Amino acid sequence: MEQRAFGNTGLRVPVVGMGTWRTFDVRGPLVDQRRVVADAAFESGVTFFDSSPMYGEAERVLGRALDGRRDRAIVATKVWTADENEAANQIARALEYFGGRVDVYQVHNLVAWSKRFDQLERLREDGAVRVLGLTHYSAHAFGDLRRAMEDPRAGAIQVPYNPHARDVERAILPAASDLGLGVIVMRPFGEGSLLRKAIAPTALAPLAPFGITSWPQALLKWILSDPRCHVAIPATSSAAHLRANAAAGEPPWLGADERAYIARLAE
Ligand SMILES: NC(=O)c1ccc[n+]([C@@H]2O[C@H](COP(=O)([O-])OP(=O)(O)OC[C@H]3O[C@@H](n4cnc5c(N)ncnc54)[C@H](OP(=O)(O)O)[C@@H]3O)[C@@H](O)[C@H]2O)c1
Repeated sequence: MEQRAFGNTGLRVPVVGMGTWRTFDVRGPLVDQRRVVADAAFESGVTFFDSSPMYGEAERVLGRALDGRRDRAIVATKVWTADENEAANQIARALEYFGGRVDVYQVHNLVAWSKRFDQLERLREDGAVRVLGLTHYSAHAFGDLRRAMEDPRAGAIQVPYNPHARDVERAILPAASDLGLGVIVMRPFGEGSLLRKAIAPTALAPLAPFGITSWPQALLKWILSDPRCHVAIPATSSAAHLRANAAAGEPPWLGADERAYIARLAE
């Protein structure tokens, strides 16, 4: 698995990570099954995990899945509230789930981001947090995101990027690169919608020299061939899917022609 410098943060990240929205919001026997997904992740070098208190049980279930191997993982989670006390509660819970530290602490959907940065900055000074980040899923908020990225406390962003969602190309990715921010790519498969299109194996044949044997791999390589993107975080509830996604994390990377070809296939 290729590792990339996560902007100027000093962190190095595997290019393929894992999200937990919906997939890790589970209870009962499924909790142990998700630990099996995490087993596959560690075996494949997928050691970057993203969560949020917005995702129901996901933070707690991820914490369980990392039990005994937390030190080998990079955990990115989020705080998501305008309320000071609720923010403190969310942070306290996350620190409990993740062994007292969060590697990348993000402000979900920019909610009260400057106040949340004040709180998170204190944790960073105490060594419980390494990098502060900002996330938004909607292009409507990219003007606000662009301005917030200028805050010197910001070290990372998380944004959607796939052949159907390319708004970040205009201002966000260039600015992230200029500012030295780490870039986490959410929704690499458009919440799964990009995978519903049937792509014939013959259509993927020209991509075989790039180690691409499946449509999900083509989409991940499309993202990761842009060096301004450091880690893509497909969510999955399946160990087999996890391994297939991890296989996209090795060079050779695509050139402009192959990226354009994949974008056309996705139309
Ligand atoms: N900050 C924000 O505002 C925000 C918003 C959205 C998402 N996110 C983060 O980004 C992560 C990823 O985005 P997402 O969860 O929306 O969607 P996604 O990763 O684009 O797609 C997830 C879907 O793809 C399927 N899948 C994954 N790998 C597959 C494979 N190899 N073959 C076939 N199907 C596959 C999964 O189903 P299976 O379970 O069957 O594999 C799942 O239904 C989230 O989990 C979350 O951590 C953040």
